[in-house]
Amino acid sequence: MKNHHKNCRFVILISGRGSNMQKIVESSIYGKWPATICAVISNDPSSLGLQWAKDRNIPTDSLDHKNYANRDLFDQALKKKIDEYFPDYVLLAGFMRILSKDFVDHYKHRLINIHPSLLPSFPGLNTHYKAIEKGVKIHGCTIHFVNSELDDGPIIIQGCLSVKSNDDSASLAERVLKIEHKIFPLVCKWLSLGKIVINQENKVEVKGENNLLFYDDVDHMQLF
Ligand code: GRF
Repeated sequence: MKNHHKNCRFVILISGRGSNMQKIVESSIYGKWPATICAVISNDPSSLGLQWAKDRNIPTDSLDHKNYANRDLFDQALKKKIDEYFPDYVLLAGFMRILSKDFVDHYKHRLINIHPSLLPSFPGLNTHYKAIEKGVKIHGCTIHFVNSELDDGPIIIQGCLSVKSNDDSASLAERVLKIEHKIFPLVCKWLSLGKIVINQENKVEVKGENNLLFYDDVDHMQLF
């Protein structure tokens, strides 16, 4: 793990609107924790989030995966691009691509993903729909270190809510996203303050913080 006496450097990868990225950027400015968002990079040049970051003078870049013959070539180019910014951590904030083992290994314990379900339930896509179909009573989102299995790896934090009888996948998506917007900046803050460690059993310990959060009243939760 990195030495946290200096500014923690983050590169954020997105694929679309980038609302999680926006919350991280805003929180890093207003929260005054020792972090720099070095770059926002997308695999889609038309991502709305890229323009948002550009407008705020954050370095941006895009690598269109369609221009690469295969996943390995794209991942190698992406890795090269990311490493130009010397990040301590790489954040997958709505980055909708599976990453190769080489890429994941290169960022061991430095690559972090947000997933809109309580893992290990509902890996992959359409998580809110699957939650409704299964009739689960508790749903939410997970932030975890990435390993080479899809939506796997040591869990850092989970944010949960109760599923209401009149929820559908759209209403769940909306409420879960609000939780995502709270817990991703929180994790970045903890990373920058050196509070997150992976222990010998490959589990995450967060020093002095609560990493299971219930957000049934998400609109009234104070963002640190
Ligand atoms: C989020 O729900 C995230 O969990 C999922 O994709 C969505 C991205 O949203 N992986 P945004 O681009 O951050 O607005």
